[in-house]
Amino acid sequence: MEMEKTMQIIHSPEALHSVCAEWRRQGLKTALVPTMGYYHAGHASLISYARSVADKVIVSLFVNPTQFGPNEDLEAYPRATWVEVPALANTLCGLSRPIHFRGVCTVVLKLFMLAQPSLAVFGEKDWQQLAIIKKMVSDLNVPVEVVGRPIVREADGLAFSSRNVYLTPE
Ligand code: PAF
Repeated sequence: MEMEKTMQIIHSPEALHSVCAEWRRQGLKTALVPTMGYYHAGHASLISYARSVADKVIVSLFVNPTQFGPNEDLEAYPRATWVEVPALANTLCGLSRPIHFRGVCTVVLKLFMLAQPSLAVFGEKDWQQLAIIKKMVSDLNVPVEVVGRPIVREADGLAFSSRNVYLTPE
């Protein structure tokens, strides 16, 4: 199939839903790459993998406030609907970031519901996140294939990450 060369920018959840519904109606295979921007080579590898297996690739850019607590303060957040995977989220990074993974799960499930992609691609760098999203999809019977892709590293071996700016060479 001839790959479309132009990028379409979609600004609203409603438009995302209807564009993706039309692609599915046309029988096109869609892949979602959820991101928070700050693009680097790791994202590029997820997007090129998605392009290699799907007819249409959706790259979402949403800096999700619910996964960054001001001091991770549980009580500071309004009560709303949340998606949680406590079996895997209350350990490792979840111990120091108690609300992080429910913020991730809630926004990722919303993106899955809007785009309803055949597959969604995540980096293996965020291993706990990947394991939690796979469990969420399995436990809730979400019809999306979750694919993890290998870490892309800088020349010195450090994994590409938007957070590397916080590190000193040491
Ligand atoms: O890994 C990220 O960048 C985020 O946690 C994600 C999956 C885009 C959800 O906001």
